[in-house]
Amino acid sequence: MGLETILIKLQDGGDSSIFSGMDWRSVAGFLPQSGVIIITDHNVRDIYGGDFPPFPVISVLPGEKSKSLETIAGIVEEMLKAGIGRDGFVLGIGGGVVCDIAGFVASVYMRGVRFGFVSTTLLSQVDASTGGKNGVNSKDAKNIIGVFNNPGFVICDQAMLKTLSDDEYRSGLSELVKTALIKDSGLLSLIEEHTEEIINRDTQTLATLIARAISIKAGIVESDMREKGERRLLNFGHTLGHAAELEYSVPHGKAVAWGMLQAMLFSVEKGFFKMEELERVSALFRRLQVLPVQSIDHEIVAGRIIYDKKRTGKEINFIFLENPGNAFSARVSLEELAGFLMKSGT
Ligand SMILES: NC(=O)c1ccc[n+]([C@@H]2O[C@H](COP(=O)([O-])OP(=O)(O)OC[C@H]3O[C@@H](n4cnc5c(N)ncnc54)[C@H](O)[C@@H]3O)[C@@H](O)[C@H]2O)c1
Repeated sequence: MGLETILIKLQDGGDSSIFSGMDWRSVAGFLPQSGVIIITDHNVRDIYGGDFPPFPVISVLPGEKSKSLETIAGIVEEMLKAGIGRDGFVLGIGGGVVCDIAGFVASVYMRGVRFGFVSTTLLSQVDASTGGKNGVNSKDAKNIIGVFNNPGFVICDQAMLKTLSDDEYRSGLSELVKTALIKDSGLLSLIEEHTEEIINRDTQTLATLIARAISIKAGIVESDMREKGERRLLNFGHTLGHAAELEYSVPHGKAVAWGMLQAMLFSVEKGFFKMEELERVSALFRRLQVLPVQSIDHEIVAGRIIYDKKRTGKEINFIFLENPGNAFSARVSLEELAGFLMKSGT
């Protein structure tokens, strides 16, 4: 695998290094000699635990439900028992759920200890482990309790993606295509040229494409860590996708792929985007099989959006496409968005 390193310059003067194409077992070389605690989930531990560096391991139940303050409180107790002090180090080995938990607990334990990730899913390699957002869920709201804080390092080993389920893998592919659509038409062409290798999970191809996607996200977050402007583009497909995900329990990335298709249709309807480009992207989605298998009722999704967004006002920032590789954010009223959805679903 060709190793690529992406350096994120942080506003506090420090930096965070992300490695794509690195053997994850070299993680030991990045850790202090003592005071390390590993956070993972049971699935990742069962597959890779035999090669973990020799430190205490806290393993959580796989899945979104573990992203809770109860889990955090339990981990804090275990860290205290393990004698982790202010100079301790938290190593998260897992997907987006584990990275969120590990980054959050490291940020609050004794007011903050150092941390790093081995990122084990496609979604976390492309998206979740870059950008410094670490959060857990409240009973009703996702990622509502969190902090901005960057890990010292993130290791992305694409060989680990071979053990992902098909659903999890395709879910991550959707976020890879999203990054290309909002910012990099060259990456979109590369994905189109290499669909066979992508479907076959060829590590070399994935290492190169993922490194490119990470660089794009890193550039965006460096200029807008706290999501006041450009970082919003990363939400492309997410307003509608998230509503569909909640209503239909569709895997996150597949719901986002559906949301992106709708956002492109909306962009066509408003005269921003060409129909031929929409057809080109839909063909790619079909080849990569990233769309949900369930049929999604637009009226139900429209109702959900109105219900969810009522508290935040009548208008939202919506991400449109102008060309592949060129997205922009514009204010849209909930009525207009719901009206479009109802029309496009008939
Ligand atoms: N912090 C951020 O910026 C950010 C961005 C995007 C998403 N997220 C969060 O990421 C989470 C979703 O992440 P995810 O899709 O990685 O889900 P996940 O962490 O739940 O992993 C998905 C499943 O794959 C298993 N798994 C992980 N690595 C594996 C491997 N190499 N082989 C086999 N199985 C493996 C896990 O045990 C789990 O069952 C959500 O909670 C979302 O909110 C955070």
